[in-house]
Amino acid sequence: MSKKASSEPQQPTSQTLTHADLEWKENGQPVSTTFDDVYFSTVSGLKETHHVFIDSNALPERFEALKQNDCFTIGETGFGTGLNFLCAWALFEQIAPATARLHFVSTEKYPLSQKDLQQALSMWPELSEYSKPLVECYMPAMEGQQHFSFAMGRIKLTLCLGDVLKTLPDLEGKVDAWFLDGFSPAKNPDMWQPELFTAMAAKSHLETTYATFTSARGVRDGLSEAGFSVEKTIGFGHKREMVKGRLIKEPEVRVNKPLWFQDNLQPEVSDSNRSAVIVGGGLAGCSTAMALAERGWKVTLLEQHNGLAREASGNPQGILYTKLSANRTPLSRFITEGYLYTIHLLKSLVSQQPELWQQSGVVQLAINEKVRKRHLELTQHFPNDLLSFLTASELSDVAGLPVEQDGLYFPEAGWVHPALFCQTLAHHENINIVTNTQLQSLEKAEKGWTLNLNGGNRIQSQHVIIACAKASTLLPQMNFIPLKNIRGQITEIEATKESSHLKTTVCGEGYAAPAFHCKHTIGATFDFNNESTEVTDEGHQKNLMMQKECAPALYHALGGEQATILDGRASFRCTTPDYLPAVGTIVDQEQFLEDFAMLRKNVKHHFTQTPKYLEGLYINAGHGSRGLITAPLSGELLAAQLSGECSPITSDLLNHLSPTRFLVRGMSRNQI
Ligand SMILES: Cc1cc2nc3c(=O)[nH]c(=O)nc-3n(C[C@H](O)[C@H](O)[C@H](O)COP(=O)(O)OP(=O)(O)OC[C@H]3O[C@@H](n4cnc5c(N)ncnc54)[C@H](O)[C@@H]3O)c2cc1C
Ligand SMILES: C[S@@+](CC[C@H](N)C(=O)[O-])C[C@H]1O[C@@H](n2cnc3c(N)ncnc32)[C@H](O)[C@@H]1O
Repeated sequence: MSKKASSEPQQPTSQTLTHADLEWKENGQPVSTTFDDVYFSTVSGLKETHHVFIDSNALPERFEALKQNDCFTIGETGFGTGLNFLCAWALFEQIAPATARLHFVSTEKYPLSQKDLQQALSMWPELSEYSKPLVECYMPAMEGQQHFSFAMGRIKLTLCLGDVLKTLPDLEGKVDAWFLDGFSPAKNPDMWQPELFTAMAAKSHLETTYATFTSARGVRDGLSEAGFSVEKTIGFGHKREMVKGRLIKEPEVRVNKPLWFQDNLQPEVSDSNRSAVIVGGGLAGCSTAMALAERGWKVTLLEQHNGLAREASGNPQGILYTKLSANRTPLSRFITEGYLYTIHLLKSLVSQQPELWQQSGVVQLAINEKVRKRHLELTQHFPNDLLSFLTASELSDVAGLPVEQDGLYFPEAGWVHPALFCQTLAHHENINIVTNTQLQSLEKAEKGWTLNLNGGNRIQSQHVIIACAKASTLLPQMNFIPLKNIRGQITEIEATKESSHLKTTVCGEGYAAPAFHCKHTIGATFDFNNESTEVTDEGHQKNLMMQKECAPALYHALGGEQATILDGRASFRCTTPDYLPAVGTIVDQEQFLEDFAMLRKNVKHHFTQTPKYLEGLYINAGHGSRGLITAPLSGELLAAQLSGECSPITSDLLNHLSPTRFLVRGMSRNQI
């Protein structure tokens, strides 16, 4: 857990969205009271979806024609009940080749509550196999991107929550077919603006098609001006006409981010070079391995120890701990999105490994006035199914043991067994785990990289991902990334009869997790300038003292001064100065310092060239005290990037994770 709060100055804004306000027709159909419009045709929602969106985008033919490992991306305006998504998924499973994948990116300003979603989708029992996992997803109504994976990773869903005019321009990647839905232009004029069509064009390529239920004049004109062809065709049900078309004129590329973050490195991945070497078998390496393996990549995962998760990722219990900020800082946004993704992932993996995690809920105690104020402020900015502020007495009921302070309760969170998480992530037929293998240096090869390993062994790979935490910076190619180690020690305490009542993880200065195999993990120390992995009594005492101070009753339940210390573990959190991990491509450092020298004089200088990248080289490191939350989503975004797919996070967040940011900052502050 990080000691310092992020300091980016931003105005607090509520991140909570309003759920859709619905009325129900007699036939079970939802109607929006806000827009006074139906979610789908009164004639037949299913048939409408097929006629308007699926057939008019020629999806049956296009799905069938997909090649091995191809990913087809659908973009949609207005997720609503998810009916269009489910129909596209069902069709994809029926006719696309087994190794092809579907990424459905949708936008929504007024998400349905889980109860309403379930009720609306109960209209389609023929889709229940697909709607059940969708309804089971936890989707708090809040701004930002939420990412989900179904059917063993074959189907991905990214929900961009918020107004489409704001969310669509932030999408990173291109769409193959648009479902231009949304209530009718007459009832929802704010959405059908020229900006919508411009944003769609910017996220399209010359084979991108679209289809929409409306043939309103303003929509046709807007689409045409944005560069799409406009073809009127027979509408569905009571609608005489609808419109479909394709992008026929690519828009001028508008650079909306600094050139040093322009990633000109979308690799051309054919099946023959869909293989990668990942170095580092912790949470970062294993998450990346799984995300690539799901996309058909053959992954070699190298680890220097004789098993996975032997360093920071090896604790017996880790907590899904979020330190959120009322401001929409990049850090807070990434943590929230990572938190939601990890929970989704854990839920989908737990059937493979029942001891993977416990959704015990997490309590964050308001340990002083400042924290209490921050907690109360957070409740104004986040939906209360994500977090709520409870009194000490309410928290005691939740925790199963008395706690003395009020605080936040995160009902969806819990504790995870990080080592089992790593093993489960890396358990895939496309992943070859090679242990006792240390990367010693990396040389540019004619095609890709030569990895020099211990014992004089060498291997080559076109794509190399370094996930070695702080040791990543031993490689000269990455030594500009300011990764720092902070030692942490955890203590394992024997459960007592009383402490076994603890039902949730309780966090104050430190944390205590519910008993697992009759042991509680309590932790964790923060030891600066200490590079030793030796477990110390002093560390154990510090951990116990944190419990004594913040949660005295819990401390006593654990045995107080007579607590039985069974074991302990010390390892290192690898942090960055801004607490965001370093994830992405690596620039040629020397060349960058030369090409962007003007940054030292004028950070706003108009540069015309993009950086030279070390092609095929990537990093995923610097996850600090919350790798459980940030590493899986980082793995997913790297895999999407390597596969040339739409990113699960927005374009501006990608910049905030880019390792290049440290060069830019250092140069603009004249520190390098
Ligand atoms: C005491 C403590 C408590 C924590 N508690 C929590 C918590 O409650 N919740 C949470 O979310 N996070 C927690 N964290 C943070 C979390 O554990 C880390 O963020 C996460 O494990 C980082 O994963 P990683 O894969 O980046 O690093 P690591 O797990 O350290 O993995 C890096 C791997 O790279 C390998 N490697 C390094 N160099 C080479 C090389 N040259 N060749 C081959 N392999 C190499 C290493 O052996 C290692 O296995 C805690 C950390 C500590 C230290
Ligand atoms: C007709 S419904 C979509 C039906 C949906 N595609 C389905 O399969 O159920 C239109 C949706 O657009 C959403 N919407 C309306 N205006 C929006 C905007 N400006 N930004 C994002 N979503 C919007 C509405 O909340 C609603 O869910």
